[in-house]
Amino acid sequence: MHEHDVIVVGAGGAGLRAAIAAQEEGADVAIVSKLHPVRSHTGAAEGGINAALREGDSWEKHAYDTMKGSDYLGDAPAIETLCKDSPEEVIQLEHWGLAFSRDEDGRMSQRPFGGMSFPRTTYAGAETGHQLLHTMYEQLVKRGIQVYDEWYVTRLAVSDEEDPTDRECHGVVAYDIKSGGLDAFRARDGVILATGGPGQVFDHTTNAVANTGDGPAMAYRAGVPLEDMEFIQFHPTTLPSTGVLITEGVRGEGGILYNENGERFMFEYGYANNDGELASRDVVSRAELTEVNAGRGIEDEYVHLDMRHLGEERIIDRLENIVHLAEDFEGVDPLEQPMPVKPGQHYAMGGIETDENGETCISGLYAAGECACASVHGSNRLGGNALPELTVFGKRAGQHAAGGDLGTAKIETGKRGDWETGEVDTPVEPGDVSAPGEDVVADGSGGTTTSSGGSLSPEKYVQRALDTERERVESLLEKDEGRQHAEIRADVQKSMTRNVNVFREEAGLKQALRDIRDAREKYQDVYVADKSSTFNTDLIQTIETRNVLDLAEAITLGALARDEFRGAHWRKENQERRDEVWLKHTMLSWEDGRPDLWYRPVVLEGENKTYEPKVRSY
Ligand code: FUM
Repeated sequence: MHEHDVIVVGAGGAGLRAAIAAQEEGADVAIVSKLHPVRSHTGAAEGGINAALREGDSWEKHAYDTMKGSDYLGDAPAIETLCKDSPEEVIQLEHWGLAFSRDEDGRMSQRPFGGMSFPRTTYAGAETGHQLLHTMYEQLVKRGIQVYDEWYVTRLAVSDEEDPTDRECHGVVAYDIKSGGLDAFRARDGVILATGGPGQVFDHTTNAVANTGDGPAMAYRAGVPLEDMEFIQFHPTTLPSTGVLITEGVRGEGGILYNENGERFMFEYGYANNDGELASRDVVSRAELTEVNAGRGIEDEYVHLDMRHLGEERIIDRLENIVHLAEDFEGVDPLEQPMPVKPGQHYAMGGIETDENGETCISGLYAAGECACASVHGSNRLGGNALPELTVFGKRAGQHAAGGDLGTAKIETGKRGDWETGEVDTPVEPGDVSAPGEDVVADGSGGTTTSSGGSLSPEKYVQRALDTERERVESLLEKDEGRQHAEIRADVQKSMTRNVNVFREEAGLKQALRDIRDAREKYQDVYVADKSSTFNTDLIQTIETRNVLDLAEAITLGALARDEFRGAHWRKENQERRDEVWLKHTMLSWEDGRPDLWYRPVVLEGENKTYEPKVRSY
């Protein structure tokens, strides 16, 4: 058994920032990650990092834009923390050597991004995430922080008191991808989940294949609520054949969207008369699909994004990466032709419920970055707000887990007696097929070990989680026939893209739940064909697929429950925002193998003001 003060799961931007902060606080910290740090998906972030750095801008303006972008579903304490701390983080990154693009006068360049009232997106060409990841990795190496890379964390070691808010997290269990062995990692002070987004729930996504929502799925099964899962961001400019991201920076620099008739539809059809292509992402994605549905799309599928008028010099200076991506993945030279683009899954606004210190309702368990929901994005994230989120909240989680004093959080976590409970009419029974009759304990994946009622020592909880995981892996490997994960996963991804996309309606959402139920039943019969112990991707993807199923269901249940149109969530049956009913977060808790729906009010009271919901237009 390995032992450290703080264990960080995941080595993307949030994980690296958390580890650095925990070490600065004096902790013995280690990262356990299924990927080598510089292969993390943060490296795919292109456009930039928002920070109010210049005269004329302020954190208050950034906070206002973010709250408006969230369609008034963000929690003010988290949004204000993000916007206040982001400038310091950007300056820290610059001091660590991040090669931000520069203006003629030597200042870091900033460009306009969607939904922002000030050009505050600081960037490094169109490869800001790549630069950020490498800059922080250098800090990790310099500081000698231990990384267990290519170790896939598959289970949390959590105590098993009946009420999740009484539980404690003592460590994790991970599968060594290189050797096929399982081992336990005891965390004396805290575990920080920084596992990234769940893009693989969908089949057209900008996300890497590794983005299977492992952290949220494990936390959910250990008793931490998932928050606002229905809010999925569909980025308006992805390449049709692969889902590869074409940065919003193209539009920030002046790129224009056209339909098949060569019309600049954002203005022509009044989708966003002020901001046009730089309206917020949900608005632009709906506009594109409305064009396609009205018969004005190209090949009935996509629209054109044209940046030729910017000129080669400016394109190469600020967006060179985009030229290569369009050429390599779509066979289009954007210096000569417009690029075909369509909406694709890009980001999850929801995730593991945390407060503004990154803490969940389980003592010793934290989350930061895309896997978490401190509720800075509400129902729609603004472009350029993901990178500050992962640095600001990665740092705070690292500090807090290592014993730093960040003050009392204003956001309450966990299901309390006085929160509203919810019900939703589902066509099938949601939840784990295997759960009835089993003694499900809080061990991170609905195992079968008998509950101890919270009476074991921390080491025993970790050892128990390791034993349970060994049983699971052995049973997956011992079968010689059955269903393969690829078929199960592909069916769910297809259904999610068809039924839980930009435009949603009750019948489609119910169909998705039926498809997920089918997939859960097939998963009962899953088997791993490859029995080898080194780099057994068949086994890893089989384990990941279980996470994909749980998150697909959580997303769809939230979408079915929320019968209103807010931010990225559009419902055919109710095409308006309904503040009188829905100014609240959708919460799902995993209770005895079943999702339990409840609601928590949005916190609109900030430090100096209350954010009053207004009509949101661009
Ligand atoms: O379009 C982009 O460059 C993506 C940025 C983001 O998601 O924040």
